[in-house]
Amino acid sequence: GMERHYKFNVMKKNTTRLCSSKTIVTVNGKFPGPTIYAREDDVVIVKVVNHVNYNMTLHWHGVRQIRTGWADGPAYITQCPIQPGQAYTYNFTVTGQRGTLFWHAHILWLRATVHGGIVILPKLGVPYPFPHPHEDKLLLIGEWWKSDVETVVNEALTSGLAPNISDAHTINGRTGPVSSCNRIIEGYNLSVKKGKTYLLRFINAALNDEVFVRVAGHNFTVVEVDASYVKPFKTDTILISPGQTTGVLLSADNPDPGRYLITVSPFMDAPISVDKVAATAVLKYSGASTDAATITTVPPPINATWVANGFMNSLRSLNSVAYPAQVPLEIDHSLFFTAGLGVNPCPVCPTKNRVVAYLNNVTFLMPEIALLQAHYYNIKGVFTDDFPAKPPNEYNYTGQQPANLNTMVGTRVYRLGYNSTVQIILQDTAMIAPESHPVHLHGFDFYAVGWGLGNFDPKKDPKKFNLVDPVKRNTIGVPTGGWAAIRFRADNPGVWFMHCHLEVHTTWGLKMAFVVDNGKGPDQSLVPPPADLPKC
Ligand code: C2O
Repeated sequence: GMERHYKFNVMKKNTTRLCSSKTIVTVNGKFPGPTIYAREDDVVIVKVVNHVNYNMTLHWHGVRQIRTGWADGPAYITQCPIQPGQAYTYNFTVTGQRGTLFWHAHILWLRATVHGGIVILPKLGVPYPFPHPHEDKLLLIGEWWKSDVETVVNEALTSGLAPNISDAHTINGRTGPVSSCNRIIEGYNLSVKKGKTYLLRFINAALNDEVFVRVAGHNFTVVEVDASYVKPFKTDTILISPGQTTGVLLSADNPDPGRYLITVSPFMDAPISVDKVAATAVLKYSGASTDAATITTVPPPINATWVANGFMNSLRSLNSVAYPAQVPLEIDHSLFFTAGLGVNPCPVCPTKNRVVAYLNNVTFLMPEIALLQAHYYNIKGVFTDDFPAKPPNEYNYTGQQPANLNTMVGTRVYRLGYNSTVQIILQDTAMIAPESHPVHLHGFDFYAVGWGLGNFDPKKDPKKFNLVDPVKRNTIGVPTGGWAAIRFRADNPGVWFMHCHLEVHTTWGLKMAFVVDNGKGPDQSLVPPPADLPKC
């Protein structure tokens, strides 16, 4: 492949949304930031220069980073942060993936405004496995707070309570016509030509909201998720969790070539935060008169679990000769992780307790030296490799609340032998509040072989697993009070973060890491760290 060079200047920018201005952190002064384009097998080289007074790291979300964990980016997991005034060059190859991913800051809550798309095109001369679109459009979904986002999270951490919810969702950085003062300037316009087909690449870069997306008067044909092709299917609504991407074909085939509302609305399992505004943009046919009324649609209700389930059931990988689904059939590590919210003593909080989150009742404590460095240089005392393979208390969705709520704090990892096969049952506990968890794994794509509501049944449920054409992803929505089963092969040496992509849950500790090692040959070990790797 060829080399693709980018220069990312992390800098501040004064920005106005919802009729009020604030200074945000951006890349190159843009919100959302620049899009990275590459073809499969290209080498991407991004020089990041930090011009702000925050520590910074960037993560190439979903890029497998085979043997190049040094370029993955989560702060204190694979690297120490790029300090103010410093620079670091991320260098990685995109292999075995094609479609839509995104990049984002991976430290504190800076990803709220520091993010952008990654588009991986097939190799030159290789067609898409679907009709070639007339044009390709990126639609980044985000969230906007009127106040400073770092202040929001710091308040939450010192109070022990939940942070303020965002004031609006955004589409390509715009809040849409939610109030009269910004009606004209702020909505994003997607222009289309009648009779043409478009590839819309939706990316959910929001911090805390899973969303439904619709376009009035049009259907979607879903063709790709998380940079893996899927068996095309038609739907009027798609569901995207934070950390997920969805590529759809949209034919501009409405007999009335006018203006149609694009709606992004949150999916919640309970009617909380209903006052939050949905984001809107407009799909506009070229030639439509500027005063034509915009056709609207009714988005799914807040707790449309049936819509969400229907969408998840329709996702199947494009299992073909060209794109074989290589689902591990024999399992070396069979893991069962409960994911939920708990409580823990808090020395600085007024109530003396704080809300925490956990996997297997472990609230992950961020280390002060990056785990990958500690692993590579064999630095002792940074982490322990005793992350439990199952929860300490046998899990029962309907009982045992106190035992399931208490957590222990630690920097604990789980060790996987190179090339071993892994199955993880992710069981949501939903003991404090209805919560779904979009669990994201770094360094791998996994197969989502099954999911269900209630307690996972180890006798009955595995019989129903899809081992033939399960969807391949990097982020899976674990349903509220339900479970999801994933499988992957640990064919990538390094230290790989796994966490809930709801930023609030990550902050509270719903995270852990895998160490993959014991490999002997040259393909089974990490490349040495680059010379400019930031020091701790
Ligand atoms: Cu998109 Cu660890 O994150």
